[in-house]
Amino acid sequence: MNPARGVGHGKLILLGEHAVVHGQPAIALTLREGVRVRVRAREPGAPASETEELRGAVAAATAALGLDEERAFEVSVEGELPVAVGLGSSAALAVGLVRAIAAHEGRRLDRETTARLANEVEKIFHGTPSGIDATAASQEGLIWFEAGRPPRWERLDVVVPALVVALSGARHHTGETVGGLSERAGRHPEVYRPIFAAIGELVRAGRTALEQRDWPLLGEIMTMDHALLRGCGVSTPALDRLVEDARDAGALGAKLTGGGGGGAIVALPADSPETLVANLRERGWTAFVA
Ligand code: MEV
Repeated sequence: MNPARGVGHGKLILLGEHAVVHGQPAIALTLREGVRVRVRAREPGAPASETEELRGAVAAATAALGLDEERAFEVSVEGELPVAVGLGSSAALAVGLVRAIAAHEGRRLDRETTARLANEVEKIFHGTPSGIDATAASQEGLIWFEAGRPPRWERLDVVVPALVVALSGARHHTGETVGGLSERAGRHPEVYRPIFAAIGELVRAGRTALEQRDWPLLGEIMTMDHALLRGCGVSTPALDRLVEDARDAGALGAKLTGGGGGGAIVALPADSPETLVANLRERGWTAFVA
């Protein structure tokens, strides 16, 4: 029998990561790059070839779909999304898995249900996800997202500027940066709450800048968001250098994207994204047009 298939997309957080876990809005973009999952029933007694992490994700997706947890699936995954760099590879995998297993069972899921179930799977990768990654991984375009039960999100009907992604060269663990920041914020809410609120204000101002196509202002807002995230302790020296290099190389603004602690930055080119990519490559960074 042919395998059942499911696709999940990567994401790029334009503004508001981390603060979104603490009740503020965020803006994210669905990437074309993603993860393709194939699923078929495993023959009784056949050994599992998947990694332990993937087996855990399959078990979580099986449970999220309300299926008998004894059900065994053979799963293969392929895709072009760099892993563990803040571009949503775990949420893309979760969405692909939920979709493929649902298809295997002859079920069709709407996007909201897909995102909700995939977010359950995400919890095994990083403890308290806001849901933004799973939502972006199951949608298209630019979204405004607010965490909650249920989360509130809407698609932003704006022209998406060309964006450049550059990699710091270090992998990151979203669970660690989210957990560390939550712990610090829990100890000193009087210090962190105003910072999260300020990031929320930047996200609101960023939305207006997007609606008005005010790219210089959007760039400024991105760089300010990076400074606040750095203050929160989720940046690294390499990410800070990369942000500075991107701005020196002609970006209107730049910031870390995703969980930080390694991973990637997103930069808003002043003119041609290809020129910014070439300038960053000349300085030794891996960069590409998003
Ligand atoms: C990770 O891509 C985004 C964070 O805000 C965590 C989350 O929202 O789940 C850091």
